[in-house]
Amino acid sequence: MKHTDIADLLKGDFLGKQVTVCGWVRTSRESASVAFLELSDGTCFARLQIVIDKTKLSPDPECMKNGASVCVTGAVVKAFKGEGVELNADTVALLGKCPPEYPIQKKRTTLEFLRTIPHLRLRTNTFNAVFRVRSVAAQAIHRYFHERHYVYVNTPIITASDCEGAGEMFRVTTQPFNAAYASEEAYFKNDFFGQKAGLSVSGQLEGEVAAMAFSKIYTFGPSFRAEKSNTTRHLAEFWHIEPEVAFAELPDIIEIAQDMIKYLIRAVLDECPDEMDFFDKFMEKGLKEKLLNVVNSDFAVLDYTDAVGLLKKADVKFAYPVEWGCDLQTEHEKYLTDVVFKKPVFVTNYPKEIKSFYMKQNPDGKTVAATDLLVPGIGEIIGCSEREADYEKLLSAMKARKMDLSAYKQYLDLRLFGSVPHSGFGLGFERFVMYVTGVENIRDVTLFPRAVGNIM
Ligand code: 4AD
Ligand code: MG
Repeated sequence: MKHTDIADLLKGDFLGKQVTVCGWVRTSRESASVAFLELSDGTCFARLQIVIDKTKLSPDPECMKNGASVCVTGAVVKAFKGEGVELNADTVALLGKCPPEYPIQKKRTTLEFLRTIPHLRLRTNTFNAVFRVRSVAAQAIHRYFHERHYVYVNTPIITASDCEGAGEMFRVTTQPFNAAYASEEAYFKNDFFGQKAGLSVSGQLEGEVAAMAFSKIYTFGPSFRAEKSNTTRHLAEFWHIEPEVAFAELPDIIEIAQDMIKYLIRAVLDECPDEMDFFDKFMEKGLKEKLLNVVNSDFAVLDYTDAVGLLKKADVKFAYPVEWGCDLQTEHEKYLTDVVFKKPVFVTNYPKEIKSFYMKQNPDGKTVAATDLLVPGIGEIIGCSEREADYEKLLSAMKARKMDLSAYKQYLDLRLFGSVPHSGFGLGFERFVMYVTGVENIRDVTLFPRAVGNIM
């Protein structure tokens, strides 16, 4: 069907021209002589007003109904009110009618309700805005790295190694377990890959392989975690941006992470003004100002040991008491970001026991060169570290964790053949989208969220 995108029509030089547009009716009203339709085709946040002169045209009454799909031809004229344009209809054709059971009605649209109709909720203003911001942010991520000589690599989704070692891998198998097998080993030997396999929790291990050839790489793909935590910030399937940089130590990668986040925020503010105005008004008051402050100031950097000191001194009763060596809970992270710093904070140098095997061991023998980026309202959005580049030290960390070394031979080899200091991080894409839109539940920035007990 030849037609013009509403985004082009509203921006471009179409005044006086004859055009065809297609879309869904968002609202309508009529008097004795004239009818108005507000049409959205999803190419932009704004809608196009269609004006129907009822003395000349009598379209199918179904065209006036909320949710109906229509195709309209007419002349672009200056809007009666305001600065924009509207369309004086010559023909209005019904494409698909929409009965009154259509669940997207003005009155019932809470986010909780919309979560029950993931196939229809995208036609609301909120989801229109969320997914355009998500798309613009994804484009900006590719642009950011592309402009800086990073090679975009696609790491495998099916893997035999568990990057984070947290036992949160989904298994990949083609056969049910059968009691006839004497052991788990025998069972896996007979499976598709001849060994145990799962869905990757992170592309980092393979990303490091690529960084040892191209210096700077990034991945942007799905990661899978069989997390039982049913929270507003965990999914079983999320999108993960993972740059890996050779010849970079912890302070270097912190600089890169901060620069990238600021670049992405700027891109979203510049490219999605209507959407960001909407979020500022309806999702989080002061959102735009918050983001401008983030872009225009330095993030805080705080040693884990100092963070523990601050938390112990805090005049707050935490559900989880704080001691050096403990993992920071959401309540602790929120205290640091929302109460103490009121801006993004890099917490650095965590105790080695609570972090992954691959992180560079600090000279103190107790901590590793890792950092999490915590942001107000959400908590951790980036997990980051310098990697252990020393073969012997890495090997001993893996042995201490009783890891199956045979699955990591290639990873260890990197430390034998021209090993270099290198660092990388993982940004949870959905958490970033939550942060810039003010949306509070990760299920509302994901097309079809997968979480424990939920695969709609
Ligand atoms: O901190 P994580 O586990 O770090 C890694 O996976 C490293 N291998 C990354 C790297 O250095 N290349 O995860 C990184 C980020 C988290 O900070 C969070 O934003 C996001 O991934 N994330 C999740 N997002 C949604 N649902 C989940 N279940 C998530 N788990 C992690
Ligand atoms: Mg983490």
